[in-house]
Amino acid sequence: MKKPWGGRFTEKTSEIVEAFTESISYDRRLWRYDIEGSIAHATMLAKQGIIPRKDAAAIVRGLKEIASEIGSGRFRFNPALEDVHMNIEAALVRKIGAAGRRLHTARSRNDQVALDLRLYLRDETEHIISSIKGLQKTLVKVCGRYPRTIMPGYTHTQRAQPVLLAHHLLAYAEMFQRDRERFADSLARINVLPLGACAMAGTSLPIDRHYVAKLLGFRLVASNSIDAVSDRDFALEFLSCASIAMMHLSRLAEELVLWSTEEFGLIEISDRYTTGSSIMPQKKNPDVAELIRGKTGKVYGNLVSLLALMKGLPLSYNRDMQEDKPSVFDAADTLKSCLNIMQAMLPEVRFNADRMEATADKGYSTATDLAEYLVRKGVPFREAHEITGKVVLHCISQKKGLQSLELKELRSFSSHFGKDVFASLGVAQSVSSRRSYGGTAPAEVKKQIARFRKLLS
Ligand code: ARG
Repeated sequence: MKKPWGGRFTEKTSEIVEAFTESISYDRRLWRYDIEGSIAHATMLAKQGIIPRKDAAAIVRGLKEIASEIGSGRFRFNPALEDVHMNIEAALVRKIGAAGRRLHTARSRNDQVALDLRLYLRDETEHIISSIKGLQKTLVKVCGRYPRTIMPGYTHTQRAQPVLLAHHLLAYAEMFQRDRERFADSLARINVLPLGACAMAGTSLPIDRHYVAKLLGFRLVASNSIDAVSDRDFALEFLSCASIAMMHLSRLAEELVLWSTEEFGLIEISDRYTTGSSIMPQKKNPDVAELIRGKTGKVYGNLVSLLALMKGLPLSYNRDMQEDKPSVFDAADTLKSCLNIMQAMLPEVRFNADRMEATADKGYSTATDLAEYLVRKGVPFREAHEITGKVVLHCISQKKGLQSLELKELRSFSSHFGKDVFASLGVAQSVSSRRSYGGTAPAEVKKQIARFRKLLS
């Protein structure tokens, strides 16, 4: 196979070198963007009088034919042509002859690959933003099904204070909101045109990069040709946004795993979204959630792998950078599939409201309410904390709950306790009293649900 760059070579490339250097096995998925970029480039070359209009028309026609061949699976990619760029260009020349040989004027694969990756990530980012939104909608819908269900809130995985289940779920809606904003912010830096930087120094030909940017919907044109071909910050940013989003999915997945244990017993995931054991007939395992948690590590790996890839590279383009794509593709695919399956699984989770409320009551979870009662009676908080600690200790030794204490008993710890103290000790009262902004009181949570409904409509 004659190489498009073959002029200065007298010997054939070794076959093992071809196999080692090819990227077509994975970068072929950029074909749509490669063709889109080439059509814009050819259109600009003709407008500037750099190539004849009729050649540009033939190029555009040829590229569209190639697109439909690839789209319908009729195209044969050839590893000897290294990558998606050379495969498409060679096919174009085969198809339309001499005119096709003008397409690569004032362009290099260095700016071309940066362009393709940016177009690809722009699409993926938009897709991911809308998938995150879908997941948020599902979370809010689940909240609507359990508007007053109370569960134990945890710190240190120890029962801490009773909260609304909806409040807990909305914590995830907040995380995903930040993810959506983070991805949207990153679009500003993805959306910059590198094409026209050529190999790394620009060109002597009278190109119009701003016109190409307009054709491709780019907001800005990269203003340094060296940076344009050597920058992968936008890909790193994508991987970092993806890693953070996966971390959020993983924490949610971890809670689903934990909550579905016999020990917690807070949820049951439907048969459709669990799997069995090949030896233990009684098992029903939360494998979907576990795999979301597991795949998170791989996405972090992709981020670290691209950071490590870039850290020692002198400017500008280096072939090492070809290895950026598997990381980026894998992260995008993994995140999308995890978002989708999490959204599908959530409605399949049955929350065990009775058990949640029963356990929310355990572990002296309203002790803070007792301390705050004393604060309302004028006791300094540190003192109130100390007194309440003593009350809890007394309860532990008497094997009693806070609510079963007699007023007389309570008054032996502080004369500030009055009959009204019992109103502070119930789980439901505790929850509805936390009306501070962002707190767990139903009235507050209702406001947040309304806020999300508006945000997501
Ligand atoms: N396949 C290459 C990559 O993905 C395209 C750019 C190659 N440029 C070059 N001068 N060899 O990075």
